[in-house]
Amino acid sequence: MPTAQDWIDALALEPHVEGGYFRRTFQADHRPPIATPAGERFTLTSIHYLLTHWSPVGHWHLNRSDILHFHHHGDPVTYHLLHPDGRHETAVLGQDPRRGEVLTLAVPGGVWKASHLTAGDHGLISEAVAPGFDFADMTLGRPDELTALFPDHEELVRRYCRAGGPDAPAG
Ligand code: GUN
Repeated sequence: MPTAQDWIDALALEPHVEGGYFRRTFQADHRPPIATPAGERFTLTSIHYLLTHWSPVGHWHLNRSDILHFHHHGDPVTYHLLHPDGRHETAVLGQDPRRGEVLTLAVPGGVWKASHLTAGDHGLISEAVAPGFDFADMTLGRPDELTALFPDHEELVRRYCRAGGPDAPAG
């Protein structure tokens, strides 16, 4: 079975600022962009995204766009979602429906998201983002701001906020 390092090499993945590794696999540059309140965007973008046993957490962040997540290979990935109304939702993206794992997870824009490798060596997924991903549409979670937004979930917020804060270098 391929290991985390095999996937990093085969897919030329690079460290992501959220944690884990990624590479963009598609952007809809064959059609006109669409207007969003924050500017023009591709209609759709997609990435491969990998969590590994040495980089197992996708830290808290918020996107404006809707994102579909698809599990491809390896171990399950647990998602924590915090909705604007304060509701906490979890889902496990993986290959075993007998354990309640799902192959696909939709996260609407405006929902805070953190993810972590549930067990094992690695989990490989894809994300399809519409309107297309732009860094200007992403906010990385700052512990104090997020705990103020979600006072009932302080431990969960702090557990998956990036050590050193969002301004720390990726890697
Ligand atoms: N998260 C979801 N899509 C993307 C992307 O295209 N680039 C980056 N850096 N992060 C993403």
